[in-house]
Amino acid sequence: MRKTLIAGNWKMHGNLDSVESLISGIKGQLDDSWQCDILVCPPSIHIDKAVKLTKGSNIAVGAQNLSEQDQGAFTGEISGDMLKDIGSKYVLVGHSERRSLYHETNELVAAKYAKALEAGLIPVLCVGETLEQRENGSTLDVVKAQIDAVITFYQDKAEGLDKLGQCVIAYEPVWAIGTGVTASPEQAQDVHASIRQYLSDMNEAVAEKVQVLYGGSMKAANAEQLLAQKDIDGGLIGGASLKADEFIAICKIAG
Ligand code: G3H
Repeated sequence: MRKTLIAGNWKMHGNLDSVESLISGIKGQLDDSWQCDILVCPPSIHIDKAVKLTKGSNIAVGAQNLSEQDQGAFTGEISGDMLKDIGSKYVLVGHSERRSLYHETNELVAAKYAKALEAGLIPVLCVGETLEQRENGSTLDVVKAQIDAVITFYQDKAEGLDKLGQCVIAYEPVWAIGTGVTASPEQAQDVHASIRQYLSDMNEAVAEKVQVLYGGSMKAANAEQLLAQKDIDGGLIGGASLKADEFIAICKIAG
């Protein structure tokens, strides 16, 4: 049985004060009886503070990106080891904004994925199609290629699948991100079920284990229907995760 994971991606928002108020706002309304896992992904510079503030609670902290390098002369980069050292548990890899704005290819995302695992972080592999790709019918090809890149990064398929089994996948249709236009529960479930089937065709245990989150304009008002779908195991929430009340309302729905 997969646990529901409600994750907030704060993107490049906030400051030290807002990290404090957001986390204390979430903590103040947490209910120990909830079964869902909760994750917040602040900007890297705020991870240290977020880790300290969430200590003793069941809120995990993750990063939004990492380097594909171990260490060295890579100005401005942050390694997986550094993120682990500072207390991160998860790291997003291949978010669509990284893919489109920073030209991250499937191969680079796979290299980052590998570094995340080496550092002992749980990668949240973000996949999803653009509007154009949806309209030309290539949604599943795009998503499968994004998943395949991780598997084929490793020496053999069995190893690749074993590594894939250690991640969380976030399906985020690019056209639904930050637009207010969410995928309908049926549209999302269709892709989630296809991802699950694709994994199952390769390895049933991996398909059963990997949580597949939905991301793209998820908010309290649409979370119930989305989270009710059989293959949707949680959410990766952008804008709505910046308001404690809204984020906690989604956690409450997840239960
Ligand atoms: O990582 C989160 C996604 O990009 C979704 O963002 O909830 O603001 O649409 P959004």
